[in-house]
Amino acid sequence: MKNKAVWPRKLRSSEWFGGTGKNAIMHRSWMKNQGIPADNFDGRPIIGICNTWSELTPCNAHLRDLAERVKRGVYEAGGFPVEFPVFSTGESSLRPTAMMFRNLAAMDVEEAIRGNPVDGVVLLGGCDKTTPSLLMGAASVDIPVILVSGGPMLNGKWRGKDVGSGTAIWKFSEMVKSGEMSLDEFMDAEQGMARSAGSCMTMGTASTMASMAEALGMTLPGNAAIPAVDARRRIISQLSGRRIVEMVKEDIKPSDILTKDAFENAIRVNGAVGGSTNAVIHLLALAGRVGIPLTLDDWDRLGRDVPTIVNLQPSGKYLMEEFYYAGGLPVVIKAVGDMGLLHKDAMTVNGDTIWNNVKDVQNYNDDVILSPDKPLTEHGGIAVLRGNLAPKGAVLKPSAASPHLMQHTGRAVVFENIEDYHSRINDENLDIDEDCIMVLKNCGPKGYPGMAEVGNMGLPPKILRKGITDMVRISDARMSGTAYGTVVLHVAPEAAEGGPLALVENGDMISLDVPARNLTLNVSDEELKRRKARWKSPIEKGNGGYAGLYIETVMQADTGADLDFLVGKRGSIVKRESH
Ligand code: FES
Repeated sequence: MKNKAVWPRKLRSSEWFGGTGKNAIMHRSWMKNQGIPADNFDGRPIIGICNTWSELTPCNAHLRDLAERVKRGVYEAGGFPVEFPVFSTGESSLRPTAMMFRNLAAMDVEEAIRGNPVDGVVLLGGCDKTTPSLLMGAASVDIPVILVSGGPMLNGKWRGKDVGSGTAIWKFSEMVKSGEMSLDEFMDAEQGMARSAGSCMTMGTASTMASMAEALGMTLPGNAAIPAVDARRRIISQLSGRRIVEMVKEDIKPSDILTKDAFENAIRVNGAVGGSTNAVIHLLALAGRVGIPLTLDDWDRLGRDVPTIVNLQPSGKYLMEEFYYAGGLPVVIKAVGDMGLLHKDAMTVNGDTIWNNVKDVQNYNDDVILSPDKPLTEHGGIAVLRGNLAPKGAVLKPSAASPHLMQHTGRAVVFENIEDYHSRINDENLDIDEDCIMVLKNCGPKGYPGMAEVGNMGLPPKILRKGITDMVRISDARMSGTAYGTVVLHVAPEAAEGGPLALVENGDMISLDVPARNLTLNVSDEELKRRKARWKSPIEKGNGGYAGLYIETVMQADTGADLDFLVGKRGSIVKRESH
């Protein structure tokens, strides 16, 4: 990438702080109530630190500390840092689901950046939705930005064993149901599941999105895997503070980095790390913000040849700490490059190509980062399924699924919504066996506003007691990145929009054929037409507030579930208030 800008030059922030006019004096004088020397307004880059810190987002609760490290770097490079808060979407507690607020948070990020006197921004995120919301909002403004992740927690520990975030919860709760674990033991394990600052330490959505940000080129190399409490997390924060000042001088913007090649690299890296299905939705939405034509089919096309080589839970064995000690994401990117699957010239925020950033790295543990010849799963990536049950597509993560269920026909056991599922799943008289296919409706973007992470429905206790741990499950919901199973997700159009999923009835036969990428409801078109004529939308309209706006404007999963009016880039120009 050539240096586009001549330095020194007039910066965006000078529209607020430059000169001797009344407005400039007003803007500067109010800022000075924080004890800021006059020379901080002398035309040096003003760097926003956009912080998703919140004590209600435990995974991001340490980000004030990292912000201080970013500030050091900004000062060292001759900039002036200003930290500001934005809406923080905490995955573990926010209801109805953090995903409903990803777009609201992105709107907050976008308007906070555009409306304020900043020339560049360091984005601080970590928990699942905070990373995409930061990137989406910043991409719509398109001034220089760099992302710093909070980093994963140290490994969870219980009775001498590693306990992976989320993954252990799914596993232990099924073990309690099947009688293999007592409730007391489960509660004892709770104490060691989240024992340091940071985000989930499995290859769940948080680690996946940190990896996606690095593979896209939006972070310094090596950012994704450094544990939150490792001193090197502070160092990369400081270095990112230094780098953003240079990026402002070089005028490197998200639109220079977020090219089609960058997205294709990220999709392939997602296959190699065995990343979360949530990455599909977030990258589609981010591509929409920068006008890159990315589709579900790109996910299937690009992911098919990529073996999953990162042996991390939920698909594999280890956790993010081991991944970092093995060399982290740069080793994976290098392996993808060595397989001939990387656009090596894609630029990154450090001003160098993605290949130059990784070409000399070493793998320090080949049981954690496997050789592509002996992968965890030969065909990683995301399988995109189509058929009369999902005309606009559905996704499945092969690395988390059971090989024997990849081609399976079974009788549908239908749950009309998540409440229906909860009320009946433990009923010993439920007419279900392990060959059935569990179908959950009305949990898509509009049906359960935000598209809840409930697609990995737990199995009925009577089946778990037989030692069966997986069944085919189909829904328009999402699944936590920490979860696993033969789970078909993101069925589009969703049931609440009248998609074919809404028409499935108990006893229908459904065929899943992952190698053929097919999902078929074995019911005639005539019968489906009759059912459609009787179908009534479950959506309650006119609720008002953000939830009402969300339901009115959210797009379907196959295009990223952004709000329709937020798609695209709106730039950084803002009208000035005249006093
Ligand atoms: Fe925040 Fe998992 S709950 S990263």
